[in-house]
Amino acid sequence: MSDRAEALRTDVRSGFSAAQKWLPAKWFYDARGSALFEDITRLPEYYPTRAERETLAREAGEIARVTGASTLVELGSGSSEKTRLLLDGLRAHGTLRTFVPLDVSASALDEAVAAIRADYPGLEVHGVVGDFTEDLGLLPGEPPRLVAFLGGTIGNFLPAERIKFLRSVRAVLAEGEWLLLGTDLVKDPETLVRAYDDAAGVTAEFNRNMLRVVNDLLGADFDPGGFAHEAYWDAEREWIEMRLRATEETTVHIPGAGMTVHFAEGEYIRTEISAKFRAGGVAAELAESGFAVERWWTDAERRFGVSLSRAVREG
Ligand code: SAH
Ligand code: TRP
Repeated sequence: MSDRAEALRTDVRSGFSAAQKWLPAKWFYDARGSALFEDITRLPEYYPTRAERETLAREAGEIARVTGASTLVELGSGSSEKTRLLLDGLRAHGTLRTFVPLDVSASALDEAVAAIRADYPGLEVHGVVGDFTEDLGLLPGEPPRLVAFLGGTIGNFLPAERIKFLRSVRAVLAEGEWLLLGTDLVKDPETLVRAYDDAAGVTAEFNRNMLRVVNDLLGADFDPGGFAHEAYWDAEREWIEMRLRATEETTVHIPGAGMTVHFAEGEYIRTEISAKFRAGGVAAELAESGFAVERWWTDAERRFGVSLSRAVREG
């Protein structure tokens, strides 16, 4: 069994034996899942990518000037499309030598690395296939480093895991190095829900892809068509919750995990949360994790926040 299948087996065993069944969001992203996510970023309803790009385009020069980074590390890099704005800004400033994209999706990473090598001759590109909750210790590149974590992916952690993650990023940085963090902002629920439940049904396919990944890696017999996509706005916790709801009672065999899993009609799997933020909350969580926010920007419509923080002495 591959390492990836082993890791999924562990997650399936714990997630599907919980009272509320769930799986970690990283299991959306095989080659098909990464391609579907790219399609999501181009949907009219999915504003976060365009809103974040607007800010990066406007502030890339300022980010380069403030950080003077010689290494750009990108966590959960995907296609690294928006990241080109940062690469351009840092190159024009004359400090950038190394780009280190890290992603669990080998296919997305390979494509991004090839495309960036072709378009940025002379840049040292060091792609890392890995899990950003486990593999931050492996990151190469000389200081000062700028770690970018874009797309609002930080919102896919539960609040307690979020702080743990930010502290783990802080732990691999020296004082004075940098974190550029993209955070989607609280806004009217209709806009939020539409971003995660588009008219063309691309997000529904993306959500169901997690079941296909379980089928592929663990030989399970999920019928993805038997699960309905749902995006639910939890107004109290201020997060969108992605669910896959069984439309009828079903039993699923998962030989690779040694499990048979029963779903009642209407029972759902929680596949992801996407937390939405307020400026004050972002700054407080960063401070708690050993970062000081030096710049805070949004797009013109204030839909999406981008913060630039400096690693400070802890304690
Ligand atoms: N940064 C890109 C992609 C965001 S989608 C953008 O802003 O558009 C989230 C990305 O994080 C995907 O490419 C996914 O493969 C990756 N990812 C999700 N969980 C991960 C994990 N635990 N470790 C590393 N990468 C992960
Ligand atoms: N990081 C993205 C986000 O939270 C991931 C994402 C976008 C996503 N659309 C999705 C995850 C739909 C699950 C389902 O916005």
